[in-house]
Formats: sequence, structure tokens, C-alpha cells
Amino acid sequence: MKLIKNTFTATLYIGMLLIQTMQATSKQDNKPLNVTIVGTGYVGLVTGACLAEFGNTVLCVDINTQKIIDLKNGVIPIYEPGLDTIVAQNVQSKRLTFTDDLASAIKQADVIFIAVGTPMSENGAADLSYVEAVARTIAKHINSFKVIVTKSTVPIGTGAWIKQIILDNGIKADQFAIVSNPEFLREGSAINDFLFPDRIVIGTSSAAADTIMRSIYEHLLNQDVAYVSTNVVTAESIKYASNAFLATKISFINELANLCDETGADVQVLAHALGLDKRINKHFLNPGPGFGGSCFPKDTQALLYTSQQYGIDIHTVLAALKANEIQKEIPVKKLLPLMENNVKDKIVAILGLAFKANTDDVRYSPAISTINKLIEYGASIRAYDPQAMKSMKTELPNITYCTSIADAVTNADAVIVMTEWDEFKAMDLELIGSLLKTRILVDARNILDPSILHKHGFIFDNIGRSCLCKLPLRNMSV
Ligand SMILES: NC(=O)c1ccc[n+]([C@@H]2O[C@H](COP(=O)([O-])OP(=O)(O)OC[C@H]3O[C@@H](n4cnc5c(N)ncnc54)[C@H](O)[C@@H]3O)[C@@H](O)[C@H]2O)c1
Repeated sequence: MKLIKNTFTATLYIGMLLIQTMQATSKQDNKPLNVTIVGTGYVGLVTGACLAEFGNTVLCVDINTQKIIDLKNGVIPIYEPGLDTIVAQNVQSKRLTFTDDLASAIKQADVIFIAVGTPMSENGAADLSYVEAVARTIAKHINSFKVIVTKSTVPIGTGAWIKQIILDNGIKADQFAIVSNPEFLREGSAINDFLFPDRIVIGTSSAAADTIMRSIYEHLLNQDVAYVSTNVVTAESIKYASNAFLATKISFINELANLCDETGADVQVLAHALGLDKRINKHFLNPGPGFGGSCFPKDTQALLYTSQQYGIDIHTVLAALKANEIQKEIPVKKLLPLMENNVKDKIVAILGLAFKANTDDVRYSPAISTINKLIEYGASIRAYDPQAMKSMKTELPNITYCTSIADAVTNADAVIVMTEWDEFKAMDLELIGSLLKTRILVDARNILDPSILHKHGFIFDNIGRSCLCKLPLRNMSV
């Protein structure tokens, strides 16, 4: 147990033990289903690896041939803790294979999971072009009864739309069934989330498909994981409701943090006390620079788009999105007063590019807004992230990417911590201070202890802890 350094590692360790138990059980399973996963991104690859772990025979398909070549060579194209191990184990046991041949992958499947991207389009609606392309290819190659599952987060009504596409291609209704099986995993803890889900949601009007889905998730059902069986449209709605609720919770605590900044209250204590209320719970109450990632920004927008189509205003979600846009400006707003409102020709070190810790995903990362704003104000950027620099280079090619924290802060005029990586929590503040030109820091994740920052002579700010961080700057007597 000495090897288990933190809770995350411990949870993953327990997860792996459970995986091994599952494998033992899987071997006794005589009727493995042939599962095809279309799209081997964050969701598709995790889903494929975990379903293989449950004893299913899984073929992962992607149109990105390089990804498939990498996977066949044992190279995992994304950073997700534990994913390399579970992929390697299942490749070795021959339950998990990869191809770029979608047609043959469809033909040999009993169940086809669609796990392609559904990015935000310009009007806020989800872009369903990838899903449509897959649906059309499925229609073209159906050769036996197929269960077609949307794992991608798709707008309410997409299941019915996919069904129509397939029917319009001359396929009879008894040749396939549509299922919505939304995914709730979080990047950074995706394997754990898939192995220990809070619930499995299955939406279908087909009893046969429901039975097949139960058999795919049998290992989890045996562990009494809640199974919500409903119709397609409700399952689709559950996913959007879940993400919109969590996004709203984050925006709520961020706005409370901004109030704390003015009143002198400490948002960390506030959030802790708030989270102790079982009706509220402690999760998603971490104030920060706004939510990002591939899900919350686009899914809240897509929900609003759908609701507007039905003439319904969801004011709470709209407010959460507006609050988030404002929150993304906070790191720079915090930095400016510490630098006499002038960052022109200054060097700012950015620690953290991923939208959150333990992922290399930079989609809608708050770091992008912060960096762009600083550049607009004339600053130059030295950035470091333990995993996300490769992904950020395509988004922001013209900033300086550094090899370490020390490299990033050397000769910088200030530093902003944008992502809550463990590496940043544990950094040597005296060393950082000695490398910086001036000891100016914004902790946009509240991961550094204000008293230690004081001890090392930093002028700093954070999110919603004004009584602690501004004490030496303001003459506060209470
Ligand atoms: N990333 C998350 O944390 C998360 C969590 C829950 C749900 N989701 C949802 O899951 C879906 C996938 O998200 P992601 O983050 O895994 O996306 P991603 O961009 O990482 O992966 C999508 C993959 O699909 C492939 N693809 C596109 N068209 C294809 C086609 N015609 N045939 C085969 N492959 C094709 C792409 O090459 C890519 O590898 C989205 O709808 C997303 O909203 C994501």
C-alpha cells in the first residue's frame, strides 16, 4: 500500500483488481457479443477497452488511419490514466482489435456503438455530420440484425433521425433497433468512471435490444449498478440534463467566489460547508477559471438550441453559460492589478493548458482565452503542461512551449496557474520565486496555500479567497 500515493491511484488500483476479477468471470462467458465501436477517441477507445474487459469481442474503428496504425502498434493516441494497461491486456487476450475498415466492422457486428464527435457548430447546435456519415454507412452494409447504439452525446431526437436515415435506405425496421446509451465518463478518470458508473442509462423501444444491452453490461449489473431503462428520447435528454446541471453548479460556485473576493469571505470554506449538505454534495464545487472541455460548453449550447426549437427557454442554463464566459476573463483580470495594469512586453508563464488535470484535451480550455487575452494586451507567453502541449500546439502555434515548470517561469514577469495538475500543487515555490523576475502569481485553481505563497514573498491572487490573499495588499483590520 506504500506504493499507493494518492486517492486517484488507489481508486485506479482497486479498479484494476476488479478488472482482473471480471476477466476471470468473462472467460466463463460462452456467448460473447461482437461489438463494433465507431470512433476511437476519448469515449470510443475507453468504451471499447472496457467492454472488451467485460468479456465482449470488440472491434474499434476509426477513419483516422494513423490512429489505427498507432493503436495496432500499441501506441495510445490520447492521454488517459490507466488506458494503456487495459488496452494492452485486452489486445493481448484478443478481445480488442482495431481497423479502419468500417464496412467490414459493421458486417461482423451484433451491436454497433456510434462514438464519433458531435462538436458545436456555429449556431450552437451539435454538428451531426459525423453521426450521419456513420448512419449512412451502417445502412449500406447491414447484413443481419444490428443493435445501433448512440454513445456520442446527440441532440434529443437524434435516435429517431438515425432510424429514419436507415429506413430511407431501404432497410426493413425488423433488421435493426436503435438504442441511446449516453456516456457519463470524465476525462482524466475515464476508466474508473466506466468501471464504476453511478448508473447505466439505456433508451430503446426494442425489448430485444434491451436484453442485448443488459448482457453487454452484465458485469456491472451483477454489481448492482443502477440500470435506467427508458425510451430513446428520455435517455438522450438525461445526458444533456446531467451536463447542464453540472455546468450550472460550476458557474454557481464561480459566481459565489467572485462575491467572496469582494466581501472577504473564503470560497474554499464556503464550498466545503455547502458540499457537506447531502442534498447538494461536494462535487463540482471547485471555483476556477470557468468550465471548458469537449462536453459542457457544447452540450449546454446544444440543449439551449434544442429548447429554443421547441419554444422553451431554459434560463438557468443560459445564465450558467453567460457566467462562464465572464469567468474565463477572471485570470487576466486578477493579474492586471498585480502588474500595475500593464502586461505589454511582459512575459507571462502559463502553467496548465488542458481544460482540467489528468487529460491532454484542450478543447474550449480556459487557458486559451487567458493566453489570447494576454497576447492581445501585448504580453508574450511561456507555457508548460505535463500532457497537453502537443494538442495545444495546433490551437496556439505561436507561443513558447517549455519543457518544465522551471523552464516556463525562468525570467517571466508573472505566472498564472491554469490547471490543477498534481505537479503544480507540489511545486517548489521558493525555486519558482527565484527563477521569476518578479514574484507575481495568479492561482486560478486555488491549489496553492496562500500562507505558503506569503511566506515566499509572492504578490498573488486566487479565486474567491480575498481575505487570505489580499491581506498584505489591503489594510484589513478585521
Ligand atoms: N470526451 C468526453 O469526456 C465525453 C464524455 C461523454 C460523452 N462524450 C461524447 O462522446 C462523443 C465522442 O467524444 P470524444 O471526446 O471521444 O471525441 P473524439 O474527437 O476524441 O473522437 C471521435 C473519433 O471519431 C472518429 N470518427 C469521426 N468520423 C468517423 C467515421 N465516420 N468513422 C469512424 N470514426 C470516425 C474521429 O477520427 C475521432 O477519432 C461526443 O459526442 C462527445 O460529446 C464525450
